[in-house]
Amino acid sequence: MNTIGTAFRITLFGSSHGTAVGCTVDGCPPGISIRREDLESDLSLRRPEPGIGTARIEEDAIGIISGLVDSVSTGTPITITIANRDVDSSKYIKFKRIPRPGHADFPAIMRYGEAHDIRGGGQFSGRMTAPLVAAGTVAKALLSMLGVKVAAYTQSIGKVVDDDDHDLQLVLEESRQNSIRAASADMAELMRGEILSAAEDGDSVGGAIQCHCEGLPVGVGEPFFDTLEGEISKMLFSIPGVKGVEFGSGFRAAGMRGSEHNDPYAALEGQVITVTNNHGGILGGLSTGMPLRIRVAFKPTASIAKEQRSVDLATMKEASLRIEGRHDPCIVPRAVVVVEAVVSIVLVDLCLRGGFLG
Ligand SMILES: Cc1cc2nc3c(=O)[nH]c(=O)nc-3n(C[C@H](O)[C@H](O)[C@H](O)COP(=O)(O)O)c2cc1C
Repeated sequence: MNTIGTAFRITLFGSSHGTAVGCTVDGCPPGISIRREDLESDLSLRRPEPGIGTARIEEDAIGIISGLVDSVSTGTPITITIANRDVDSSKYIKFKRIPRPGHADFPAIMRYGEAHDIRGGGQFSGRMTAPLVAAGTVAKALLSMLGVKVAAYTQSIGKVVDDDDHDLQLVLEESRQNSIRAASADMAELMRGEILSAAEDGDSVGGAIQCHCEGLPVGVGEPFFDTLEGEISKMLFSIPGVKGVEFGSGFRAAGMRGSEHNDPYAALEGQVITVTNNHGGILGGLSTGMPLRIRVAFKPTASIAKEQRSVDLATMKEASLRIEGRHDPCIVPRAVVVVEAVVSIVLVDLCLRGGFLG
């Protein structure tokens, strides 16, 4: 389905090489300031840098169809379109017959048959994350009313890992200064090297994004099933290329003892805090008031220049495939603002449902 959320509901539409991609955001209260500049600024963070991103450069021309008058929400559905202009579908035709390993071509052809829109990957394209970012701008405007901040950065690319725990404000400032979206200029250079080296080899590289959230009140989440980590995970897994999601200590918790993993409580200026944050800000599916710590793993981009093995679906014989066209050698830098958007959207939905907003 293409709609997600309960009180704050996002519908995505469009495809990679269609006229436009877009979103409808339902549930935004009236009177919220959402400026075109804010939408454009968030979208610019998703745009590729030549050399380390795809050569497809979209200017992301925004159309505001409904829901905003003079940059203020009216309380009716907000529909935003983002034009697709830099489109070349010619290199994709052969994937209907010889599917790309690691991409969605094969299962999509089996599921949708001849009708599957293969151009640019159709609906299975990273392009679909542009309207997610726009919906995220609306969500961020709502979260700012609650004093909630969400910031993500590139935590690893290939073998280069940033193990430091960064301050959220620093992440917001530093990650916008470099196109890798790393938390420091030094890390950005090392990570850039990993991407360029993979690209030179006709290959791609994966990585991880760390997302922090601060200012969330205690008790956000709707257990049993709509837990805070469950809702965040579900939407994060809709981002193309996501392979794993961790909260707090994540998979490391499996190798720890309770005495080591439990975060002791303490009282600070009339507030209950925890001394450590292995729980990543969530217990029992509810926020604890401690910062959310979310890590998202992205696989290396499927479309690589190296020759690969596939099958010709017309003859059912093995075939070699050489992928042309324009692709990101690494998804991660462009996905940082997408992760911020998705986490913000889920938080707004759960804050509205729990009576924390509006
Ligand atoms: C911002 C962004 C850009 C992407 N760019 C590419 C790309 O250039 N080439 C490619 O093969 N996949 C790219 N992807 C990933 C594919 O869309 C994704 O791997 C594919 O749809 C299969 O889905 P899955 O990896 O989640 O199984 C991109 C994803 C994102 C979020």
